[in-house]
Amino acid sequence: MDKIVALCKRRGFIFQSSEIYGGMASVYDYGHYGVLLKSNVKAEWWRSVLQERDDMVALDAAILMHPRTWEASGHLEGFTDPLVQCLGECKKRWREDHLPPGQRTCPECGGELAEARQFNLMFETHVGPVADEGSVVYLRPETAQGVFVNFKNVLQFARKRPPFGIAQVGKAFRNEITTQSFIFRTYEFEQMEIEFFVPPAEADTWHQRWMEDRMGWYTDLGIRADHLQLRPHGVDELSHYSSATSDIEYLFPMGWSELEGIANRGDFDLTQHAKYSGEKMEFVDPGTGDRCVPHVIEPSAGADRATLAFMVDSYDEEEVEGRERVVLRLHPRLAPVKAAVLPLVNKDGQPEKARAIYEELRRRIPAEFDTGGSIGKRYRRQDEIGTPWGVTVDHQTMEDDTVTLRDRDSLEQTRIAAGDLAAELEERLHQPWSSPKLA
Ligand code: GAP
Repeated sequence: MDKIVALCKRRGFIFQSSEIYGGMASVYDYGHYGVLLKSNVKAEWWRSVLQERDDMVALDAAILMHPRTWEASGHLEGFTDPLVQCLGECKKRWREDHLPPGQRTCPECGGELAEARQFNLMFETHVGPVADEGSVVYLRPETAQGVFVNFKNVLQFARKRPPFGIAQVGKAFRNEITTQSFIFRTYEFEQMEIEFFVPPAEADTWHQRWMEDRMGWYTDLGIRADHLQLRPHGVDELSHYSSATSDIEYLFPMGWSELEGIANRGDFDLTQHAKYSGEKMEFVDPGTGDRCVPHVIEPSAGADRATLAFMVDSYDEEEVEGRERVVLRLHPRLAPVKAAVLPLVNKDGQPEKARAIYEELRRRIPAEFDTGGSIGKRYRRQDEIGTPWGVTVDHQTMEDDTVTLRDRDSLEQTRIAAGDLAAELEERLHQPWSSPKLA
């Protein structure tokens, strides 16, 4: 993980928040390549759950919601973690369920641990100028509730009937007791969530299907299958709303950890919101008039955790011609930049020619133009940000309008007509791909 953190800083992917003031723990800012990488992760998610399906619609609900939402959803009462505080020297706080069972001493200083108390993870704030009880609102701890409260709106306009889903990407906030491992667990993060509404009798089948689909999404984008596992929750681990959940776990540097949860929420949320709002939250079959409260299957992924997993899984070091090379072997569709156009030397008309090729190429795919430093140094920089293709303009280009196309992973160099470049790379972007680390 230290290597990933260092690479993220060195190449401007991710920075500690408010660094000039000493930094804020567990809050991170995304720099240029980090923004591009994470938005590609989200774009691939949208492609797979929305664009390539007929049974999904999109939503973007607000972060602030009516406070009754959180009473109905059970979060005010039940969204807690067991907190134990060290009574010894360090006074550190721990999540009891992250300590070995029965541990009564502080892992840091050996001091005695106080009795566990339930700690609510929701961040509280106020609307309006007076911070009194009536103005309390919460920063949403999951995007899901925005979907449930809009169920009727969507049903009215989407022309869908169960089974169908509502997909949403957005920020969520949790006042986590322990934060750790870079962007793995932070106070503020982005979720990519689907609430998939199904006839009650089909819930188990859809739960199973979504587990397979979501595992496939990660492997299609290059995560090694032996670094992924599905782990069903034990009864004592289930969230207050869930009757069954399985986590997709990834083998992060700190061990197997949750990447995405796929829960069967039953009719818990719609029933609760119907009770608290007085509105009917059900599907009425227009043909038969039959009514049902659909059950919900919820694949809920973290955009930041997925970004971290893609970086960890693709990170590689190797020796090439006696020099160490660090390379992010990202799936080309995830790579922040798809191609770098580099003149071999900074003279003989090569920079101008390279610039013209770059300007043509960037209309079709995200590309970079770089003239700074030796060609080796420029390649190393592109390798570290995961650029799959290097396009070199050399003396031959000036004669026959061909360029060298360098493959990031095999290091193979081929010659191609400059005019064919964009079509060739667009084609390659959509070919099936598997991690060269598997070979
Ligand atoms: N609506 C269901 C739900 O929120 P969750 O398992 O608590 O379920 C879903 O969260 C996903 O959100 C997790 O699998 C993880 O990827 C991400 N996530 C949760 N808490 C996070 C945190 N503090 N920092 C970063 N990502 C987090």
